[in-house]
Order: sequence, then C-alpha cells, then structure tokens
Amino acid sequence: MDARQMKIKAAEAALTYVEDGMRLGIGTGSTAEEFVRLLAEKVANGLKVQGVPTSERTARLCVELGVPLKSLDELPELDLTIDGADEVDHALRLVKGGGGALLREKIVAAASARMIVIADQTKVVETLGAFPLPIEVNAFGMAATRIAIEKLAARVGLAGELKLRSSEDGPFKTDGGHLIFDASFGRIPDAEALARQLHAIPGVVEHGLFINLASLAIIAGPDGARVMHATV
Ligand code: A5P
Repeated sequence: MDARQMKIKAAEAALTYVEDGMRLGIGTGSTAEEFVRLLAEKVANGLKVQGVPTSERTARLCVELGVPLKSLDELPELDLTIDGADEVDHALRLVKGGGGALLREKIVAAASARMIVIADQTKVVETLGAFPLPIEVNAFGMAATRIAIEKLAARVGLAGELKLRSSEDGPFKTDGGHLIFDASFGRIPDAEALARQLHAIPGVVEHGLFINLASLAIIAGPDGARVMHATV
C-alpha cells in the first residue's frame, strides 16, 4: 500500500463517524483532501452535511466537488472536525501547519465538539518536534518576534533554526495574510509549556502545537486503519 492509499484508508474510516445533518469542520492537506473526495461521493448520494473549511484551498476543492459550505460565523458550533496532522504523539498532541492553515485549523477544531485526526503511520511519534514547528506571526515587527521566539527557545532549552517559509512569489502568506517561521527544534519535551509561552509573545498569531483538541486519531498502515486514543 503506498502513501496515498494509506491516506485514503484513514479518510474512509473517518467517514464512518460522519452522520446525516452534521456540521462538519473540514481540514487542510493531502489527507484531508482524500476525505473531501470521499465525502463528496456521499453527498452526491444524498448525505446532508454542512461543511466549514479550514482554508481557501479546502474551500475550493469542496466547491468543485459539490460539498455544501458555510462560514464559521454562520455555523460557530460544529459537531465534528476531520483534519490531518504533521505529527501525532501518544497523548494525541499534534504538530500541524505544514500546509500553512494552522490558525484556521485551530479555530475550527476548537469550535468543534470532537476532532478526529487522520494520518498515515509515519506521522506517529514518541516526542513532537522532528517536523519543524510552524509558528504564524504578524508581518509587523517580524524581526523582533523572531528574536523573542529565539530567546524563549533558549530559556526552555530548545535550539534550532527559525526559517521564514517562502513560496514562489516571496514569503509564504497564510489565508489570514500572516507569515510563518518553521522552527527546527528537533525534540519538544514539554509541548504544553512551549505552547503557553509562544502565545505570550505579542507578534505570534498562532503556533502549530494542538494540545487537548484531538478526540481520537485514525492511523493507517499497510494493514489498514486503526483507531488511536490518548494513552498518557
Ligand atoms: C495544514 O496546515 C496541516 O496542518 C495539515 O493538516 C498537515 O500538514 C497534514 O498534511 P498532509 O495530510 O498533507 O500530510
């Protein structure tokens, strides 16, 4: 089974949690897109859902495939969000934002009664941090914000490059018009403390540590998909 087939397996399993009439947060990334494709087939066969997309990219795919959409302001309370992740640990803490949608993904997940993470088994880690941590920052004062993040990292015993994410047209801009630093910390032993302290830096808009948001994860491997609950 190749990587795409594993993503499809996870997405198929997640679809069994979707019920008629649900208000659904719809994630961003290649795994979430497999979910959108399967969801669109169900919608075409009569399933009634209202989706709230976590990015413009996901919104475009939903429109193209006929998945009905609402804004989060129209539906501020959601039943379920299905989204991918860059890393998942055994407490269901996540690193997200590889696709640049972390802010909207976190707002949507927090507005949902449940969040289900879909991923292939390569995303499961003992300790978060091998995947560079996306930190979304305001463009104003970006250099000062970078220094503040570096000082914080040093205080909590982390080190590593903060790389400004770029695109073909220059610095990568999020849907909200912000910039992203990808922080190669390597290993984050205390994700809760780092998450709290990053939020205390004024120029930081959001970070990719998702803590206490995922209700369960569906992890796909060569033998199919399994459900993972928090174990610590
Ligand atoms: C988008 O900003 C991310 O949080 C994605 O959910 C994450 O990067 C996983 O993407 P893939 O499913 O493409 O690996």
